[in-house]
Amino acid sequence: MCGIFAYLGPQNNASEIAITGLKKLEYRGYDSWGVAALDREEIAYYKKVGKISAYSTGDHAFNPSHLAIGHSRWATHGGITEANAHPHFNSAKSIAIVHNGIIENYAKIKADLETRGYHFVSETDSETIAHLIDSHLPTHTLEEAIKLTMSELEGRYAILVIKKDEQKIIAARRGSPLIVGIGKQEFYIASDIPAFLEHTNQVNYLDDDQMVVIDHRGPQYFDLRTNSPVEKRLITIDWLASTAEKGKYPHFMIKEIMEQQETIRRAVEQDNDEIQKIASAIENAYGTYLVGCGTAGKVCLAATYLFSRIAQRHVNFAVGSEFSSLQHFIKDRSLMIAVSQSGETADTLEAIRAAKTKGAKTLAIINVKGSTMDRESDFSIHLKAGPEQAVASTKATTSQLAILTLLAYACTGQLAEGKRLLLETQSQITDMLNPRYEDHIRSLADLLAEVESIYIIGKGVNYAMALESAIKLQEISYIHAEGFAAGELKHGPLALITTDTPVIALISNDETRQDILNNCQEVKARGAYVIGVASENNPVFDFWIKVPDAGISQGLVNIIPIQLLAYHLGLLRKNDPDMPRNLAKSVTVK
Ligand code: AGP
Ligand code: GLU
Repeated sequence: MCGIFAYLGPQNNASEIAITGLKKLEYRGYDSWGVAALDREEIAYYKKVGKISAYSTGDHAFNPSHLAIGHSRWATHGGITEANAHPHFNSAKSIAIVHNGIIENYAKIKADLETRGYHFVSETDSETIAHLIDSHLPTHTLEEAIKLTMSELEGRYAILVIKKDEQKIIAARRGSPLIVGIGKQEFYIASDIPAFLEHTNQVNYLDDDQMVVIDHRGPQYFDLRTNSPVEKRLITIDWLASTAEKGKYPHFMIKEIMEQQETIRRAVEQDNDEIQKIASAIENAYGTYLVGCGTAGKVCLAATYLFSRIAQRHVNFAVGSEFSSLQHFIKDRSLMIAVSQSGETADTLEAIRAAKTKGAKTLAIINVKGSTMDRESDFSIHLKAGPEQAVASTKATTSQLAILTLLAYACTGQLAEGKRLLLETQSQITDMLNPRYEDHIRSLADLLAEVESIYIIGKGVNYAMALESAIKLQEISYIHAEGFAAGELKHGPLALITTDTPVIALISNDETRQDILNNCQEVKARGAYVIGVASENNPVFDFWIKVPDAGISQGLVNIIPIQLLAYHLGLLRKNDPDMPRNLAKSVTVK
């Protein structure tokens, strides 16, 4: 969480460049923000509570500067106040830092520093970093002081540091992402690529326990464990800067929902040999474990049904944060499949690392090329969905489902058949996502805008999609929403149904159909308002959301109207669909 950004180069409006970059990272954290720039004689800074998107160029008169760092915060330690907003400083304000992550041993370091006379002005864990660097400075260079500081910090973090009188930016990471953008004699550092994509698509990725020192000559990388220089490969990013913009859409969320008119096709255009190689790894593995968080976790659950049905294979599933309690049965011949849009989610990353410690092989199904999971896994499959910037995952979700469907087909030697089916699904989705369809969903949003709760039911893959629907509705509409396996209702949740309680049923045209229609009758008998997401209408539905009959891809198709419903409910309830309260994209803390 949190976005960090740095600029060093010939342009003299470094703070404004940092703010523009941070706006593109706002999805990572948006409760407060700040920048610090090297002025001629001091470090000048500016902090604000609220969203950085509310800032317009020129709102603040920054002095000319060629070097600035900035931060858009998602608070972990300390309330949402100007004092807690980053950057943080040493007492002399000669050092400024921004930090993404959590310093787990900050309380002890802070107490030690306080007994030595250091004075803290914020409640954050981050401020300790500035004072700790300061404590090493009298006898060390800035680089050495940062190295010593890193060796004392515990937790996950990415930091940027500047110091008065030194025309350089120093960045270091352990666990949180940092990418260096290389322009023409100008340099950027950011938590994610879209932040500087309009300036350059040439990047170096910083790995854990590495530090980079950037001055006007360029970046120099160091491994903090071996204390030696590191050479980096320059990587060209093939995203167009325009794909990271909203374009004609009012929000990223609706733009990304609409991009599903082509993202499934892009996802399935994979190298056949690569997919076949991975399918063999699944077949030969002594147990396959799918891991993901939030929406990606629901996709993993859906995949257990897909592998069972398509490939007659049992695959296991755990959410990232629970994996450590289940890892005991991982063997060196096991395979872990991590599913993640960002490739940076801390809980998923930790699961990958735990599996690797046991010698297991790992496959990352990720959207962000070059992300930590991409680099740390034995195999990777890229979703190729383009940047997903709304906090709510939409296009990445359906691409993940498409890839896992493809893998299940590949496991039975039917890769071509899987591709054909998914391309057909793509054309069905392309037809579906038209303005009339959106209007129909908007009319349902009008009906539901004031309800207290929404329940979603499904069977098989649709059960996983019912759970995913609940996340989508929770995060965007803030309406209490819960997903259930349809057959489970009678074991308890049915007690929640009263007159006009909305129940959305996600239905496939297969052997589960009649059972779930019966479940719809059961809730209707208790007064529920039944919304059927199905390819055919049925008298039990009070409201019918028509979806194409997509066979094995029905779960993938059924989630799309719910994404639209969540978006329109969010708008009607005056929420910001791109930046839901309390959340952030790319959850890089545990
Ligand atoms: C999705 O709408 C959520 N915002 C969230 O659950 C997300 O899917 C989760 O944090 C995992 O992110 P990842 O795919 O980047 O790993
Ligand atoms: N832990 C720090 C804070 O609460 C940084 C959080 C972040 O990554 O935004 O300020």
